[in-house]
Amino acid sequence: MIQSGIERKPRSRAAAALVAAAFLYAPLQALAAEPALADASAGLATTRTYCAGCHTESSPAHFQRLSVIRKSPEGWVMTIFRMEHVHGLALPEEARDTIVKYLADTQGLAPSESAAGRFALERRPNVPDLQMGDDLPVMCGRCHSLARVALQRRDADEWLKHMHMHVGQFPSLEYQASSRDRYWWQTATTVLPGKLGGLFPFDTPEWRDWKAGTHAQPTGEWLVRGRTPGRGDYFGTLRVASQGPDAYSAQWSVQYADGKASRATSKVRLYTGYEWRGTSEWESTEVREVFALSADGQRLSGRWFDAQRAEIGGDLTAERADGPAAILAVSPRALKAGTTQEVVIAGRGLKGAVSFGPGTKATTLATAPGMLRVSVSVDAKAAIGERSVSVGKTAAAQMAVVYDQVDRLQVLPGNAIARVGGGKIAPVTAQFEAFGFLEPRPDSAVRTPIALGPMNVRWKLAPRNEEAVKADDVKFAGSIDASGQFMPGAAGPNPERKYASNNAGDLSVIASLDQGGKELKGDSHLIVTVQRWNTPPIY
Ligand code: HEC
Ligand code: HEC
Repeated sequence: MIQSGIERKPRSRAAAALVAAAFLYAPLQALAAEPALADASAGLATTRTYCAGCHTESSPAHFQRLSVIRKSPEGWVMTIFRMEHVHGLALPEEARDTIVKYLADTQGLAPSESAAGRFALERRPNVPDLQMGDDLPVMCGRCHSLARVALQRRDADEWLKHMHMHVGQFPSLEYQASSRDRYWWQTATTVLPGKLGGLFPFDTPEWRDWKAGTHAQPTGEWLVRGRTPGRGDYFGTLRVASQGPDAYSAQWSVQYADGKASRATSKVRLYTGYEWRGTSEWESTEVREVFALSADGQRLSGRWFDAQRAEIGGDLTAERADGPAAILAVSPRALKAGTTQEVVIAGRGLKGAVSFGPGTKATTLATAPGMLRVSVSVDAKAAIGERSVSVGKTAAAQMAVVYDQVDRLQVLPGNAIARVGGGKIAPVTAQFEAFGFLEPRPDSAVRTPIALGPMNVRWKLAPRNEEAVKADDVKFAGSIDASGQFMPGAAGPNPERKYASNNAGDLSVIASLDQGGKELKGDSHLIVTVQRWNTPPIY
C-alpha cells in the first residue's frame, strides 16, 4: 500500500511516467486537512490557472473536456493525478485541494447517483461489484470495478474519448485484460459509448435538482452507533462544529460494547453538499471517514477505515441527538434463554423502566449520553422469537431476539481475498464474522429465519481442495486469530515451498460454535493471493 506523502515528492518526467504506469494515486486525506475554500470564485480562478493551459476556456467557466464530466471527489483526485503524472501538470497541493473541491461541488454526483457505487468510495472489502449486464463486466470489469464507471457522468462523445485515453495510455490494454477473446476496441468505440452515455449521462434531473437546492449542515450534536467487524458494536456521541465554509471539526466519543471507551477529533470537509471526508486518529491509528449526510441533514452514514489498511474499519450511523425519544439499537440483539447478560440500549430520551417482554427481567446498570447499559435475565422457558424493547413510554419492535439455540451459522464475507505482504506493501488481511440465525420452527412464533447477529465462534483454516492439500496452503498462506481476522503470510518466493512459490493459498475458513457438545459450523472461501501494487481511491 502507498504510504501517505510519497506520491507528492517532485519527480522527473521519466520517473513520473513510471509511476503513472503503476497507476499510483494520491490519497484523499490531504483534502480534509485544510479549511475549505468553498468560495466558487477562488475555485474557478485556480482551475483557470492550472487547467486552462490545456483545457481551453471556450466560454466563461467552461473548460474543454473538464466541464462536461461529473465525478465523485475521489474521481476528481484520480483524474487530476493523471494530469500531473502523465501530462506533466505541476500542481501545488493546496491548489489541487481547491480544484477538487470546486469541481466536486459544481460537477459532482447527486446522492442518488453515487448511491450504487458508495461501497467503492467507502473501500469496503470483499463486496461483489455492481451487476451491469453481460458486456461491461468483461469489457471493463476485468481491470477495475464497475463502480469506478458508475461513479461518473458524461455523454457518449466523452465516453468515446475516454476509451481513446485507455488505449492511448495503455497500448497493451487488450492483452492485459485478456480481451483478445473479443473485438474489444471495436466494441469499446461503437456500442459502448452510447450505452454508457445512456446509463450515465452528463445532464440529469437528479443533479439539476441537487445543485439548485440548499444543503443541510452537519453542525450540531449527534448520537453515533456502528460496528467494527471482529471487535463488535460501539455507541457514542459526536459534536460537529464549523471551521469555515464546508470545513468542520468533529469530536467523537465512543464506547465499545465490551466497555472500552475511545475519543478522537477529526478534520472534515464536506464535498458536493453531502460527501463527508474526514481524517482523524483513533488509538494512534490514522483513520479516514467516508460518510454521506442525508439530504434532510438528519443522518450521517458510511464507513471509516485505517488510512494505510483500508480493509480494516467499521460502519457508522449517526442521528441527531435532539430528535423525539427513540430506541435506535440494542446490542447484542440476541438473548439466550436461561442466561443473564449485559445489553446496551442506544437511543434518545430514554427514561423509565426497561422491558424485553414476557419471561425476561431487565435492570439498568448505568446510563451515558445516548445509551443505557442494562442487565437482562431470560427465563429458560421464555418464548423464542423477536421481541419489542421498551424504555418507559418509548418502544421499538424487533429490536431483540430470544433464542434457545443457534440453528444456522453464516460466515461473511462468503468469498474473500487476502494478499501476502511485507516490505513496502502491507499485507491485506481479511476479517470474518459468523452470523447466527434461528430457523422457522413449527412449535414457535418463528416463521421466517431470524438474524441473531455475530456469534462468538472458534475459527479454523482448512485446505479448499486437493491442490491446497498438496501445496500445504494451511501451513504457508497465513493464520486466523480468535477475532476471525486472517493475517496472510509474507510476500516473495518461499524456499520452503514446492517450486519456492509465493505464500498464496486456497482456503476454507471454518467457524464452529459449541452448543452443549453439539457443534454447529459455517464456512467461507478465502483466496490468498499476491500483492496489489496500486491502491487508487476507487478500485
Ligand atoms: C499539460 C496539459 C494538461 C493540463 C495542464 C491539464 N490537463 Fe486534463 N487532460 C490532458 C490530456 C492530454 C487529456 C486527455 C487524456 C487523458 O484523459 O488523460 C486530459 C483529459 C482531462 C479530462 C478528461 C478525462 C476523462 O476522464 O476522460 C479531465 C476531466 C481533465 N483532463 C481535467 C483536468 C484538470 C481538472 C486540470 C487542471 C487541474 C487539467 N486537466 C489539466 C492534459 C492536461
Ligand atoms: C486494461 C485494463 C482496463 C480496462 C479493460 C478498462 N479500464 Fe478503465 N481504467 C484502467 C486504468 C489503469 C485506469 C486509471 C487511469 C488513470 O487515471 O491513470 C482506468 C480508469 C477508468 C476510469 C476513471 C478515469 C478518470 O480519470 O476518472 C473510468 C471511468 C474507466 N476507467 C472506465 C472504463 C470503462 C467504461 C471500461 C470498459 C469499456 C474500462 N474502463 C476498461 C484500466 C482499464
